[in-house]
Amino acid sequence: MILKVARLGHPIVRMAARQVTIDEIRSRDFQNLIDNMVETMHEYSGVGLAATQVHLPIQVAVLEVEGNPRYPDAPSVPLTVLINPVVTILDQEQIGGYEGCLSIPDLRGMVPRFKRLRCEALGRDGEKLTIIAEDFHARVIQHETDHLKGEVYLDRMPDMRTLTHLAEFQRYILEPNPPRK
Ligand code: NI
Repeated sequence: MILKVARLGHPIVRMAARQVTIDEIRSRDFQNLIDNMVETMHEYSGVGLAATQVHLPIQVAVLEVEGNPRYPDAPSVPLTVLINPVVTILDQEQIGGYEGCLSIPDLRGMVPRFKRLRCEALGRDGEKLTIIAEDFHARVIQHETDHLKGEVYLDRMPDMRTLTHLAEFQRYILEPNPPRK
């Protein structure tokens, strides 16, 4: 089932999410929620989706990068479910990159993110995960775990002048030689 995505301005987008218990993870409702979050992420061509974006203040995010039309140059990241994620930064170097968000439709902005991190979380069956992520993978994890704290990428932008609509992003930033009209 495709879930309704909360947009910026809905109070849920600014809520800090609570942890999920093992008993909750093992429930049928929770497993259905994970399936629905994955389906919703695919429907809107997202590379990640946090539970707060589908109106639930719980620490759950899904992410996947695979031939995504919204991020054509991004390296692949397998489908991952992160429950109660804890991020430790492993490289303090920050790298700028453009981000978008399903809760902030049709915009992109330049956001510095830490280059390398470790993410400890539970997977969809409650198994312990330790993920070492770099570059775009690390960026997606930082973006999604920010959502679980009620934060969005706009909060991390040092220069709001890089904010651009998606069509203009594709025309003037993605294309090496934008047509002059
Ligand atoms: Ni987002």
